[in-house]
Amino acid sequence: MSEKIFIGVAWPYANGSLHLGQIAGANLPADIFARYHRIKGNEVLMVSGSDQHGTPTTIKAEQEGKTPQEIAEFYQKEFLDCWQKLGISFDLYTTTGTRNHTEVTQDIFLRLLEKDFLYRKTVSQAYCPSCQRFLPDRYIEGTCPFCNAPGARGDQCEACGKLMDAPDLIEAHCRLCGTAPVYKDSEQFFLRLPAFRDKLLDWVKDKKHWRSNVLNFTTRFLEEGLIDRAFTRDIDWGVPVPVDGFEDKRIYVWFEAVIGYLSASKEWARLQGKPEKWRDFWQGDDVKSYYFLGKDNIIFHTIIWPAMLMGYGDLALPYDVPANEFLTIEGKKLSTSQNWAVWLPDYLSRYDPDPLRYLLSINMPETSDTDFSWRELVRRNNDELVATYGNLVNRVLTLVYRNYDGKVPEHGELNEADKSLMKNMDSCLEQVGELISKCSLKQAITTAMAAAHEVNRYLDEKSPWKVIKEDKQAAADSLYVALYAISCLKTAMYPFLPFSSQKVHEYLGFDGKIEDYGWKPQDLPSGQKLREPKPLFSKLDDSVIEEETKRIGT
Ligand code: MF3
Ligand code: ZN
Repeated sequence: MSEKIFIGVAWPYANGSLHLGQIAGANLPADIFARYHRIKGNEVLMVSGSDQHGTPTTIKAEQEGKTPQEIAEFYQKEFLDCWQKLGISFDLYTTTGTRNHTEVTQDIFLRLLEKDFLYRKTVSQAYCPSCQRFLPDRYIEGTCPFCNAPGARGDQCEACGKLMDAPDLIEAHCRLCGTAPVYKDSEQFFLRLPAFRDKLLDWVKDKKHWRSNVLNFTTRFLEEGLIDRAFTRDIDWGVPVPVDGFEDKRIYVWFEAVIGYLSASKEWARLQGKPEKWRDFWQGDDVKSYYFLGKDNIIFHTIIWPAMLMGYGDLALPYDVPANEFLTIEGKKLSTSQNWAVWLPDYLSRYDPDPLRYLLSINMPETSDTDFSWRELVRRNNDELVATYGNLVNRVLTLVYRNYDGKVPEHGELNEADKSLMKNMDSCLEQVGELISKCSLKQAITTAMAAAHEVNRYLDEKSPWKVIKEDKQAAADSLYVALYAISCLKTAMYPFLPFSSQKVHEYLGFDGKIEDYGWKPQDLPSGQKLREPKPLFSKLDDSVIEEETKRIGT
């Protein structure tokens, strides 16, 4: 029976290029998961888009002397190009700037208001007397009241991750001019989060399959108690508040960004020409929704968005939120402002996608922070992709292609070793699938690579390249078994290495797209015509390490 899998991926701010932290944290794991479920025959809807509102974009626009709209459009294009080159296979990658998104957001706003989950309250709001404007949270900086880190923002401290209100900051000042803010009255809408606490606690109770960091964080947060949160802001860049008298205010960017999951699903359905089809992924008991994001986004996906969904009613809550930890870069915390990052467009302008996908998969920050280094990328590319997997594929396919008329050879009676390797490949495929479905992606790719090692050991023992000189049939037997193993490996590797798996698929003589062949060992009939193989991966020179490391932080 095919399952319905909704995959939501954190919406990157449209205020700067993508970096490897976002890819390892959210986009790559989501894509691996989506590809697996699609090839398995499940129905998948994977959506995301650019988070283009709020102060992240206006601050960038001010810095660059552009309009927020120009900034948003620039990055939307760049992101789309990156997804295509890296093979991140969204069913729809949109933005929060669409009319549809505004409509869906306002609909949710009005329904929550009607059900009394939103209420008005006048609060005193930071205002910069010298800039003569209200200061949104991100325009205020100061010292974190929880961990004392300097440079904390008025919405969240990056050092300890705690959320706060700007007045809590110690020695708060305007980030534009440094003046201490004054406070002026302003009316806002607030979300009654505490009204959802018991329901949320109840909902979280059976989430035994969640990662322990996600579950612990969420439960602790709920147990500590929730407070009402302002749903609107004094700002002019964002989704308008659909209530008279609020023309100068906008819905808070975080609240509308999470609504993007639903609005994108509706936009996708309309683009399919089936405007009601979004319901397949949001309603009914057979939907499973997965949200992929970095750990700094957990509370928005396990508390705030679920509360909004509960308040709205009749929409599926997250089934799993496999949030990742952080990726450090060359041993240091990633920092976009200090350019301590590896930028995705930059990487993709010089290197192939699969080596990066491989490294970030086998080194995925699933249960603890992991490090990206160019040395590790070069090493894993050369020792594992080129030497272990690529060479296996290349030497077997070349030998067969040249000696057996470019076809899958006939095989005779297979012996125990042959059969046992084939059986192990079948079960490798099963195991890898099982691991991916549990979001254990790092272990999944490790298992697939271990299987490639096993095939190499089998071949070293059988040495068909020597045997072929005396006994062409004996060599054909082991080469047939190796081809079968490679055929399983191309499927097992596919979610991680889609570009090279498609090539192996073609070298083996299969037509069309690998994703149409299913998550199962393929029949490999003797006589199937192969295509001329070329090396799957290229070796990276050691000089890459120094050259690339130099770019970081400068
Ligand atoms: N733009 C936010 C960030 O980059 C993430 C938004 S995720 C979503 O941290 F939930 F809003 F979609
Ligand atoms: Zn100011």
